[in-house]
Amino acid sequence: MGESLNGLKRTHMCGELRENNIGEKVTVMGWVQRKRNLGSLIFVDLRDRTGILQIVFGEGINEEAFQKSDNVKSEYCIAATGVIVKRESPNRGISTGMVELKGECIKIFSESKTPPIYIKENLDTDENIRLKYRYLDLRRPDMQRILRLRHRIAKVIRDFLDEEGFVEIETPMLGKSTPEGARDYLVPSRNYKGKFYALPQSPQLYKQLLMVSGFDKYFQIVKCFRDEDLRANRQPEFTQVDMELSFVEQKDVMDVNERLLQRVFKEILNLDIKLPIERMPYKVAMEKYGTDKPDLRFGMEINDITDVVKNTDFKVFQNAIENGGSVRAIRVRNSSSMSRKQIDKLVEFVKDYGAKGLVWIEYREDEVKSSASKFLTETDTKKILNRMEAVPGDLILIAADKNKVVLESLGALRVHMAKETGILKNNDEFRFVWITEFPLLSYNEEEKRYQAEHHPFTMPMDEDIQYLESDPGRVRAKAYDIVLNGEELGGGSIRIHDTKLQEKMFQVIGITQKSAWEKFGYLLEAFKFGPPPHGGLAYGFDRMVMFLANTDNIKDVIAFPKNQNAFCPLTEAPNVVDEVQLEELGIGIKDLNRDN
Ligand code: AMO
Repeated sequence: MGESLNGLKRTHMCGELRENNIGEKVTVMGWVQRKRNLGSLIFVDLRDRTGILQIVFGEGINEEAFQKSDNVKSEYCIAATGVIVKRESPNRGISTGMVELKGECIKIFSESKTPPIYIKENLDTDENIRLKYRYLDLRRPDMQRILRLRHRIAKVIRDFLDEEGFVEIETPMLGKSTPEGARDYLVPSRNYKGKFYALPQSPQLYKQLLMVSGFDKYFQIVKCFRDEDLRANRQPEFTQVDMELSFVEQKDVMDVNERLLQRVFKEILNLDIKLPIERMPYKVAMEKYGTDKPDLRFGMEINDITDVVKNTDFKVFQNAIENGGSVRAIRVRNSSSMSRKQIDKLVEFVKDYGAKGLVWIEYREDEVKSSASKFLTETDTKKILNRMEAVPGDLILIAADKNKVVLESLGALRVHMAKETGILKNNDEFRFVWITEFPLLSYNEEEKRYQAEHHPFTMPMDEDIQYLESDPGRVRAKAYDIVLNGEELGGGSIRIHDTKLQEKMFQVIGITQKSAWEKFGYLLEAFKFGPPPHGGLAYGFDRMVMFLANTDNIKDVIAFPKNQNAFCPLTEAPNVVDEVQLEELGIGIKDLNRDN
């Protein structure tokens, strides 16, 4: 049976003991990292959240403790008491390596089965096993470090926002669906059979209501839920640092957030972010980088070469231009001698982005090779090289198609080439950029109507309001994203607080008054009672932690994440529920193929 504390108190943490503790009697508690029996001596490495301490038990020290210590195995939970002594053979690999504990007493609180995963750094074990035994996985030093870091980041953010006069207010988890655009997680209601709550995709509308209430600086570190396809930086439930401010314009929201980011990076990484953070209009980002989240740690910008090639006889270029598309290119340094196989892979790569192919030109010291040499004259090729300011060693990659396809393909290819050619290796730069002037609306080809890009409460830019009805596609929004190294860290907007403008907005996106009131009547009603001008922003907190912890897997920064299929291998959620529970909710399962 496991022993109890019986009044025993921990006096020190394992990892903090040093030579200045020599001679002190201490009690430490933790888990057995490993035990070695050398006959007359037994060594136990004890681990707690701060590190590892070697404990030595021996006949000459304390016979009873010596005997007992031979029973322990990996991951047993124990306490040991004794005097700190200088270690005969120091271990410089651990922080406590100069000392050891002479074990006079040992308590075994509980035994452990052989753990299914190693409790060590940089574990290379199947992720589902790690998630199934997450409580053991979290014993590992790297996971301990990340979750503590996450706590610290949250604290820095809370402290900063508190100093700035923000108040943290919780908003409901059981609500009505928000118009964020992803699929909702629904919760059936027992009281209102056949009706459902939706878990919040974000606290968007609540925070706007709080502005109406006069809490002019709100924030919340809050769980959000979105039933969408998962990726390396997406979880079905994730955390936002969400905020909203009244009586502010776009620049005010940006200003406080730049200072927030500056504080976080200073306190956590001791890094100085220079302010103001660069701003780039959406249009420029798309033209130069083919994405609204450009990675600015390297150049390789996209160049429009349509005018250079418009008089060539190359059908691929001609067709693209005639169909209203364009021809664009990127220049990759030191890559003019790629193998055919490597280049074929690039062609395959862009196909995922809808491109039909890729034209390449290799500018070598002694010759120029091109996949289009049959269709482009030497002069044509030279003109392209000139426009691209190419020098020997460069590889020019050209796409010709509809603008969207060209930009998306080259945008993705640009990042791919940066990774392939090692440009980003050893690059520990943090390159922030604000993307601004987003389009307010985008045209939904399937539904043949405009829809809100951010959400329908986003304020159009003043100078574009005049085009709201005549040319909706041209209207830019007071919306902004904060992008770091090619990832969207957060985004927000200034909201519409004027009823007339809001009505017009609904009209443009084809939402009738009736349906607008059904969906968010409570907000529209609230806006009849003196709403202040307001706007805000939300960060993906997990993503922020990922950057600061230097990991590219979102699961590493969440204590109990879901796997790629939105399943929890630990608790096995989601799962079936009792018939009785379903009955109470008035729910019948249509397809009883429940194993899926
Ligand atoms: P948005 O939808 O852009 O804005 O979300 C804000 C930020 O949340 C992060 N994020 C995610 N992180 C992990 N997993 C996900 N599934 C996921 N989805 C989004 C991103 C994103 O930038 N209410 C608005 C904000 C506002 O206008 O104030 C909103 O939710 O980092």
